[in-house]
Amino acid sequence: MTIYLDNAATSFPKPESVYKAVSDTLKKYGSSPGRGGHKMSMQTERIIFETRERIASFFNIPYSSNVIFTFNVTMGINLALKGFLKAGDHVLTSSMEHNAVMRPLKRLEKEGISKTVVKCSKEGFLNPKDIEKEIKSNTKLIVITHASNVTGTILPIREVGEIAKKKGIAFLLDAAQSAGLLPIDVQKDNIDMLGCTGHKSLFGPQGTGFLYIKDGLDVKPLIEGGTGSNSESDEMPDFFPDKFQAGTLNTPGIAGLGAGIEFIQKEGLKNIRDKEMHLTTKIMNGLKNIKGVKLYGSLNPSDRVAVISFNIEGKDPAYVGNILNEKYDIMSRVGLHCAPNAHRTIGTFPVGTVRVSVGYFNTEDDIEILIKTVRDIAG
Ligand SMILES: Cc1ncc(COP(=O)(O)O)c(C=O)c1O
Repeated sequence: MTIYLDNAATSFPKPESVYKAVSDTLKKYGSSPGRGGHKMSMQTERIIFETRERIASFFNIPYSSNVIFTFNVTMGINLALKGFLKAGDHVLTSSMEHNAVMRPLKRLEKEGISKTVVKCSKEGFLNPKDIEKEIKSNTKLIVITHASNVTGTILPIREVGEIAKKKGIAFLLDAAQSAGLLPIDVQKDNIDMLGCTGHKSLFGPQGTGFLYIKDGLDVKPLIEGGTGSNSESDEMPDFFPDKFQAGTLNTPGIAGLGAGIEFIQKEGLKNIRDKEMHLTTKIMNGLKNIKGVKLYGSLNPSDRVAVISFNIEGKDPAYVGNILNEKYDIMSRVGLHCAPNAHRTIGTFPVGTVRVSVGYFNTEDDIEILIKTVRDIAG
């Protein structure tokens, strides 16, 4: 029996309705959305529109046209950072960020944009006051993750959003690990730009994601090309979403993403989180009693999402992950999880950790087998 515990990388399996939406789009409509003006093209355009509307209502986004489809959150974050920041600007971020944030910021530093990385605690907590202290006269943006992909720690976005609003600074949220699990309300949370990936807890296929950009922000497009609108002009249209969305969209993927969010709305966000956290708590309680196992992050379930990092004393995480995979068919993810700074923060750089991440379709049996297996490996 294969046990998939790598849902923080990509959720698997997906709800049946997601497979059906992707397959129906490929088989029944399949044309280029909105470009042709013919019946099939109108149908695919409607799928795009319905998903955009569903995203807007799910995250309380005032106008659905401000939702830009991307191929993942990495693309959305690149668009937000490279389109919004200019030479001379300063940006604030946390020490728990993924390379999707840190690498574009590194590149931007070479173009005259400075950054301050605010240190989080060993459990991955961010103190909002530490963000406020570092604000300078040229601070233009605060960018943080909502939940760490290494420790699962939830960062205080409501407080950070309030600080950003009070100081007139834009706030970009990387919701890769939280969208579909934790409530996000762009208006109440004062989020100016929201980056989400489709293939994790939103249950969409890989190759989907979006960036919400609030009206009035001065953001340049990341890519230019055909939009099916204003085609007489050599320049990109100046209106949402076309300004930011050149090239043919991933319509089957977007249909799947819409079905994924619809599934969450039907099951209930809270029910999904409660089930995942029940299983996560079971893992933490099981692992913490095994001699030689060290768990990272807070042990309080309300502080985290369903991501657990651990190590076994004297054993390389790569070795542990390999045994889990080869001998027991348990899929985990080992190493630095594309977040070296987060590992520096919790003290596990450069070897990293073994990460197990629960999804909605995991069972109590999966968890019991994992705990027994880790006990065997720990000896
Ligand atoms: C916190 C965080 N940010 C960004 C990403 C990048 O996601 P994607 O590869 O879908 O762009 C991930 C994925 O692991 C993540 O966990």
